[in-house]
Amino acid sequence: MTKYFVYISGEHIDVAQAEVNALVRLLKLDEISWRDRIGLIDSPSNPVPFLLERAALVKEAGIVYTETSDQGALETTLSENVLKNSIRSTETYSVRTISVSKKNKFRDRQEIESRLGAHIKKVTHAGVSLDNPQSRILVFLFPDSVLVCKSYASQLRPRLRNRNPGRKPFFHPSMMNATLARVMCNLAGVMPGEIILDPFCGGGGILCEASLLGAKTVGIDLNWRLLSGGVENLAEIGNNHTFIQGDVRNIPIRECDCIVTDPPYGRASSTRGAHAVHLVESLLGNIDSILRRRNESLCICGSSKMNIQNLVRNSGLVVGQMLRIKVHTGLVREILTVGF
Ligand SMILES: C[S@@+](CC[C@H](N)C(=O)[O-])C[C@H]1O[C@@H](n2cnc3c(N)ncnc32)[C@H](O)[C@@H]1O
Repeated sequence: MTKYFVYISGEHIDVAQAEVNALVRLLKLDEISWRDRIGLIDSPSNPVPFLLERAALVKEAGIVYTETSDQGALETTLSENVLKNSIRSTETYSVRTISVSKKNKFRDRQEIESRLGAHIKKVTHAGVSLDNPQSRILVFLFPDSVLVCKSYASQLRPRLRNRNPGRKPFFHPSMMNATLARVMCNLAGVMPGEIILDPFCGGGGILCEASLLGAKTVGIDLNWRLLSGGVENLAEIGNNHTFIQGDVRNIPIRECDCIVTDPPYGRASSTRGAHAVHLVESLLGNIDSILRRRNESLCICGSSKMNIQNLVRNSGLVVGQMLRIKVHTGLVREILTVGF
């Protein structure tokens, strides 16, 4: 068993933890243990490439080299063989500390960085590069212990920023941003080859992420203009997409593996006079016959004013995760996974 870590974004800690937990379940690994923004996983195989490639809210991940409660003995607990095998003499490296829970003084952190940096240099003969190192050593300073890790930064997060609605070929203000769309796909456990339905697909923010995860996408929307925007946005990502102009109250497909969706709310999207709550009730009333996969394979996001949680329970379904994101004073988004 090797110990691995993930370091999540501090913006929505419970959402980020839920995203990683869902991915760890997909990998069929044992539980992950959380200490603030750091998740620790014991695994016989390396989950880091998968987590970095999939998780929108993971900033960094990697391998834990050592953990010690004795800050003064950091160098002796770090195996020289491990260091030599992972940092070649021709490479560059950096050492960075992150203080968790307890505020370590800047001076103390600097002292650890330079002490450990000097030790790594002595053992590996590699060169230091703070700007663009090939190997990144990350030291987490907990109140009672220190964790020394080799870390890899997420390449996905900058790519997600580039896929936000304003940067897509077609834009509409009702479109979902790429980070939240990716988180929701992960919470629903979207897997390559699966059929994913968004019955309120609009310009296809969610479907773009599902498609990039290798899923076959089906989008339904009432609004023809938004639907053709979705076609335009998905066109640059393969060709496994189906778009249907239709109504969520009469879903014209028989089966799918997951539903990831956000019903209309606010002024950005029209319902053509229908009450958004009734549209969600109608969707929830039909998923039993449509969803092939039963366990938390519906992920839905809506304004807290809709109280989707109640709608789910009233439909005889089970709420799995229930997460909240405060957008501004008047708007809290709720993200739920739903099972049977
Ligand atoms: C919040 S937007 C969806 C954003 C989209 N899911 C995304 O990933 O970018 C809600 C969408 O629901 C659509 N809509 C409204 N009433 C509908 C209905 N009865 N059936 C299907 N779609 C509907 C609107 O046209 C709008 O595009």
